[in-house]
Amino acid sequence: MGADESRGVAATEYRTLMSGFPTGVAVITALDRAGNPHGMTCTSFSSVTVTPPVLLASLNLGRGTLRSILETVVFAVNLLHSRGRDAAVIFSSFPGDRFARVRWRPTSRLGLPHLTGAAFALAECVLADCFASGDHLVIFGQVVSVTQSPDTPLLYGLRQFSVWQFTEPTEAARANGDGRAVCEWDGT
Ligand SMILES: Cc1cc2nc3c(=O)[nH]c(=O)nc-3n(C[C@H](O)[C@H](O)[C@H](O)COP(=O)(O)O)c2cc1C
Repeated sequence: MGADESRGVAATEYRTLMSGFPTGVAVITALDRAGNPHGMTCTSFSSVTVTPPVLLASLNLGRGTLRSILETVVFAVNLLHSRGRDAAVIFSSFPGDRFARVRWRPTSRLGLPHLTGAAFALAECVLADCFASGDHLVIFGQVVSVTQSPDTPLLYGLRQFSVWQFTEPTEAARANGDGRAVCEWDGT
């Protein structure tokens, strides 16, 4: 590998690449050792395996929420619905008490912050593993409980928030039956 390849592309080029890969929007919440809630908006969130049910997120090492997760080894993933945009902004940039600005309650199982006004799904996780890469730590969580109700997910891509739009199936999808069903994948 030459010197240029080992350095990689410029940050702006890489950010533009990733902005073309829209995702859902999560707020990861945790409690510190003293029981204070912490939370941060997160889009670097992905499923790893179904059996066991493990997910991952890549968190900047400077984050208070990450510090709390490492202290108490549990965290919650709140998946935001289409009306959860204010919460996404609060949990990415508000410098004061973020939880004073949203509706939330502790979960009955692990006592983790559930953003009841902004999330349509919540997964409680036990920290199963972590892996450092540059200035981020990739955390792996084993999902121990899920609470969810059907809703429209909030999205983030092209450097802006958006809302999932259901579209008409294409001709090819129609020929195969239901345009949505033919794209289903069970994650295995
Ligand atoms: C749409 C969006 C997605 C984000 N995704 C991540 C992420 O995946 N990992 C990360 O470390 N920060 C991410 N951030 C930045 C954090 O939300 C932000 O730095 C937050 O203030 C961290 O809070 P804390 O330091 O209190 O934990 C994201 C911000 C936005 C607006």
